[in-house]
Amino acid sequence: MATTTFPTSTPFFVHHGTRRPSVNLRTAAVVYGRGGRRWRPLRVACEKVVGIDLGTTNSAVAAMEGGKPTIVTNAEGARTTPSVVAYTKAGDRLVGQIAKRQAVVNPENTFFSVKRFIGRKMNEVAEESKQVSYRLVRDDNGNVKLDCPAIGKQFAAEEISAQVLRKLVDDASKFLNDKVTKAVITVPAYFNDSQRTATKDAGRIAGLDVLRIINEPTAASLAYGFEKKNNETILVFDLGGGTFDVSGMYHEF
Ligand SMILES: Nc1ncnc2c1ncn2[C@@H]1O[C@H](COP(=O)(O)OP(=O)(O)OP(=O)(O)O)[C@@H](O)[C@H]1O
Ligand SMILES: [Mg+2]
Repeated sequence: MATTTFPTSTPFFVHHGTRRPSVNLRTAAVVYGRGGRRWRPLRVACEKVVGIDLGTTNSAVAAMEGGKPTIVTNAEGARTTPSVVAYTKAGDRLVGQIAKRQAVVNPENTFFSVKRFIGRKMNEVAEESKQVSYRLVRDDNGNVKLDCPAIGKQFAAEEISAQVLRKLVDDASKFLNDKVTKAVITVPAYFNDSQRTATKDAGRIAGLDVLRIINEPTAASLAYGFEKKNNETILVFDLGGGTFDVSGMYHEF
């Protein structure tokens, strides 16, 4: 998984004047010269970047821990989170396992398989729309909206995906004991520009800085080849909730 780690807190110095301070490297203390506080230490907290697999059925998050990619455990203690968002009759929002659990009793307000609609026009999803229990509506631009009678609102798919991303990142934050605002998100290799842009927008709506959108088979081959040094061709089989993808990859080191 293409994730990057920086030290959690790295001191940088910002120039507020002309006098350069002397820095004791052993203690990292800044010694100000005569004439006062012209240089001040600026502490830049460098955060972890997480890798997010935003799946049709389930999602997962990974982060680099001790130089190795590690799957984050969510608040429920699971390594994957159902990509499901629901609104109860009382107007409460549920995300993940808790939303999935109540799907049968609240089908018209439980949004699953939303990845099938992200970045797509209503006229492209005739087949997919028959496979969900909630109502889809077409907005003025022909885009797909998800109708939520419980709260009388219509959501764009990226707004629902944003709720899933928000939970994933909140849980990752707790697990890593660090603020998380930067992410790399994977998408199927067949996703077009509109679907990629909408996935990035979902990240933005969730308050994330989406550093990169990468293809799922690329992420899989990166994870596989993480410590390997040989050139080789591999086939990635991804039996997913939305599609079954097979990709051929040539690995060069
Ligand atoms: N190799 C497998 N054998 C049997 N069941 C599988 C296998 N891989 C996945 N599944 C099942 O298929 C379902 C969907 O898989 P998964 O959560 O990986 O899809 P997804 O990542 O959400 O979908 P997509 O990748 O299409 O967006 C899960 O219920 C999972 O248990
Ligand atoms: Mg998948």
